[in-house]
Amino acid sequence: MARIIAGVTSSHVPAIGAAIDNHRTNEPYWQRVFEGFERSKEWIAKAKPDVVIGVYNDHASAFSVEVIPTFALGTAAEFPPADEGWGPRPVPVVQGHPELASHIAQSVILDEFDLTLCNKMEVDHGLTVPLNLMFGTPKEWPCPVIPLAVNVVQYPPPTGHRCFMLGKAIRKAVESYPEDLKVVIFGTGGMSHQISGQRAGLINSKFDHAFLDNLTKDPKKLTKLSHLELMREAGAEGVEMVMWLIMRGALDDKVDEVYRFYTVPASNTAVGHIILENKIKGGKKTSAKPASTKSASRGKKSAPKMKRAAARQKIERVRS
Ligand SMILES: [Fe+2]
Repeated sequence: MARIIAGVTSSHVPAIGAAIDNHRTNEPYWQRVFEGFERSKEWIAKAKPDVVIGVYNDHASAFSVEVIPTFALGTAAEFPPADEGWGPRPVPVVQGHPELASHIAQSVILDEFDLTLCNKMEVDHGLTVPLNLMFGTPKEWPCPVIPLAVNVVQYPPPTGHRCFMLGKAIRKAVESYPEDLKVVIFGTGGMSHQISGQRAGLINSKFDHAFLDNLTKDPKKLTKLSHLELMREAGAEGVEMVMWLIMRGALDDKVDEVYRFYTVPASNTAVGHIILENKIKGGKKTSAKPASTKSASRGKKSAPKMKRAAARQKIERVRS
């Protein structure tokens, strides 16, 4: 059967895409951001997902302001990059997985989540920037990607709780797919950001760190945050974090946090990145930790000491 092995959160700010496209990733401002994803690229190269489910929001690219679906699942065979005003980004066309996507659609809709199905759709920076951050700039993306666009652009977006429950339904759908596929789910957007108005540029790192902590340990707490609370604490666009709860809902209750990176600012937002792996599944550990974290339990230590040492080193946190 197919299984979800891990979840990833990632920023999707368009300026990151522009830095990549304009070869500015080595500039000091951007270097700090991209270095934080180096170990993530190592991790995903080792995890080798067969499919990625990319939860993101469309920014009036595929959908105009005339039609705004709450949850739109990409069931097409491919998704070209959208022209966001200065031509499409020079990134590969996203190859979909119509069979798995249709299966997810059937399972999730019969579970009473009313998805919009997109048999033709262009994808914007919301999806392609996270793919760059995790996979770099290959000629072709290394695996099929199923886009799931969530409305966080026009009020009302779905609640965090609804998103979390949708994640659970997606997991159920994936696990009822007969082919043996490894799936990684991305939740993108966030963290603190306010693009316009008097609070433009708002960064609330304290809130962001608490959100990341709870995402790993107590995600149900996050499902109780109202839109107003999210926007008050993290800025109007901070509401994008409800999308992370779809990712989190698709994982085990208890997960291994194998990597975390937080930095400010990138454009005028905070970048919060985390990799969560499901624990033992079917007797098999799914861990694909970056090679450089392997030394966590080396040495002749007693079992409890080893456990404590491993726990201390398990979470690789990089902050700047
Ligand atoms: Fe966005």
